[in-house]
Amino acid sequence: MNGAIFFSSRYGSTAQYANWIGEVTGLPVIDVNDAKADPSKYDFLILGSALIFYRLTIGKWVKAYLADLKSGSKILFTVSGAEAGPKLHRWVAASIPESLLSKMDHVALRGRMNPKKLSWGLRLIMKIGAFINPDPQASKEESGGFDYVDKASIEPILKLVEQYQANKGIS
Ligand SMILES: Cc1cc2nc3c(=O)[nH]c(=O)nc-3n(C[C@H](O)[C@H](O)[C@H](O)COP(=O)(O)O)c2cc1C
Repeated sequence: MNGAIFFSSRYGSTAQYANWIGEVTGLPVIDVNDAKADPSKYDFLILGSALIFYRLTIGKWVKAYLADLKSGSKILFTVSGAEAGPKLHRWVAASIPESLLSKMDHVALRGRMNPKKLSWGLRLIMKIGAFINPDPQASKEESGGFDYVDKASIEPILKLVEQYQANKGIS
C-alpha cells in the first residue's frame, strides 16, 4: 500500500515518534512544514501531532488539506502531556473537523516537556498554568516538566498499519 507519515512537532518528540514508526514500517516521514508535503499522493496516511495549549499543532494543515484527507485510511497519533481521556478527546475534537476525526483511528502517545528548554515567557505561562491547575499531578508536570517518551508505545500504531496492509481493499 502507498502510505506515508505526516507530522507536526514543536519540540521534537512527535518527530521522534514519527521517525520510529517510519523506521519500523518503511513508510516515508514528512514534516507538514515541508512545502512539498502533499497528502493526495497516498491512499493511507498516518498523521502525528503535538498538542500545545489545548490544540493540535497539525490543525491548520489538516483544515487546509481537508479535501485531500477525506478519502483513504488514516491513523492519528497525538503527543501530549495529558494521557488518553475525555480532556484530551475534547482538545483533539476542537482541532480536527468531526467529518474527518470520525473516520480516523486515534492513538494517544505521551511526550516530554523540559522547562529549561522553554523561553522565559513560556516558562512563566507554564508556572501560572500549574498554579491554577486543579489536578495536582498535571500541575506538578506543568511546572517541573516530564518525560514519557517511550518507543514501545508506538506498538498500537504498528498493529493498525499491519491491519491496513492486510486489508488492502479499504477505500
Ligand atoms: C508551551 C507548551 C504548551 C503545552 N500545552 C499542552 C496542553 O495544552 N495539553 C497537554 O496535554 N500537553 C501540553 N504540552 C505538552 C506537550 O504536548 C508535550 O511537550 C509534547 O511532547 C510536545 O510535542 P513536540 O515535542 O512534538 O512539540 C505543552 C507543552 C508546552 C511546551
